[in-house]
Amino acid sequence: MSIALKLTRKIRKVSFAFRGVAHYPFFQCFPVFLEDFMGAPKAHDWILDLKAYVPGKAKAEGVRNPVKLSANESAFGPSPKAVEAIKASAAGVVRYPDPASHDLIAAIADVHGLKAEGIVCGTGSGELLGLLIQSYAGPGDEVIVAEVSFSLYPIQVQAVGATLVPVPNKNWVADVDGILAAVTDKTKIVVVDNPNNPTGGYLPWSEIERLHAGLPEHVLLVLDGAYAECVTAGDFEAGEELVEKAENVAMTRTFSKLYALAGLRVGWMYASAGIIDVINRWRLPFNVSNPCQAAAVEAVRDQAYLNEVVSFTAQWRDWLTAELTAIGLDVIRSQTNFVTVAFPSESPFTASECNAYLTKHGYIVRALSVMPDHLRITVGTETQNRGLISLIRGFMNGSPDEAN
Ligand SMILES: Cc1ncc(COP(=O)(O)O)c(C=O)c1O
Repeated sequence: MSIALKLTRKIRKVSFAFRGVAHYPFFQCFPVFLEDFMGAPKAHDWILDLKAYVPGKAKAEGVRNPVKLSANESAFGPSPKAVEAIKASAAGVVRYPDPASHDLIAAIADVHGLKAEGIVCGTGSGELLGLLIQSYAGPGDEVIVAEVSFSLYPIQVQAVGATLVPVPNKNWVADVDGILAAVTDKTKIVVVDNPNNPTGGYLPWSEIERLHAGLPEHVLLVLDGAYAECVTAGDFEAGEELVEKAENVAMTRTFSKLYALAGLRVGWMYASAGIIDVINRWRLPFNVSNPCQAAAVEAVRDQAYLNEVVSFTAQWRDWLTAELTAIGLDVIRSQTNFVTVAFPSESPFTASECNAYLTKHGYIVRALSVMPDHLRITVGTETQNRGLISLIRGFMNGSPDEAN
């Protein structure tokens, strides 16, 4: 064996040994260094700097069937018609789905009174938000968001190498004046989740109109209406009319929240012809599966069921708000299917202590890294809501283990 060959094998062995240890936490401190050293493929620096999305927890150690109030899923389940449609579609999964989601788009257009050609469907609204950001922003561009807003935005913005410009919130919602003041020549997109996740607050339509009027025409305004179905306030609009008037507005919606189809992954977007054309050029052709399309058609057509869910959700959201307030906690006024509540900063009554206590008793809520004094709690069923309040009352009384 030649010396050169022996040397090459030696180097390979060392390199593999490094790969073997690379998953130990110590070595993960130096991922870039290790990859450089090993000659492995190297991702963009901005991807390597990313911290992955942290979903709401689903498990509580030692509790068999915890009550999951951490991901804003609907406690009331999907329309029975949607469930039947999923079952009926099973035999058809041998075929690729309709790449253009024709029936689903027709149903959405019909129910909402929209132009079908302005709609595109996606694997949850998260996919559509990502497609918009990738299509309109890149390295050197700026994307403005509210500092406290949906935690996926910073990841999606950084993933395309663009610069995130977080603007401090005002009264727990996006600050229109702050956003307008942050616009520069580099601004490509403004994303506003209305209502806001994780605060639950909303901007009245007049504020969104003011925001749009103040933006240069080349800036894309993305209105994320993931919680639009939950809103009962009279001065709210999700943005359909503005989309029809303006070329620089896109509205995203989801079937994951009040339609209770989070596990299917289906969302939709309404935008001008130019934006829809851009997205349709490169989205995955079969992005919405057969069962998703079939179920979402039934769900959106079953508005009677949705209306029941809306009123039940609003009733229990307001009940939770009143009960938590009566306990002495500050609750942000919510127009969503969750409430976000502040806890004292002194131990033993902090948000993280309450979170640990609730988890121990089988209730999983959402801790918020951007609002560490708060917990976000999804509206549950009547039994779940009453159980939750009973626990929090006991916790705040300082006699948590007496709570039932
Ligand atoms: C504000 C907001 N936008 C978008 C999404 C994405 O929802 P999905 O991808 O399930 O449609 C969520 C999910 O929690 C959300 O809270």
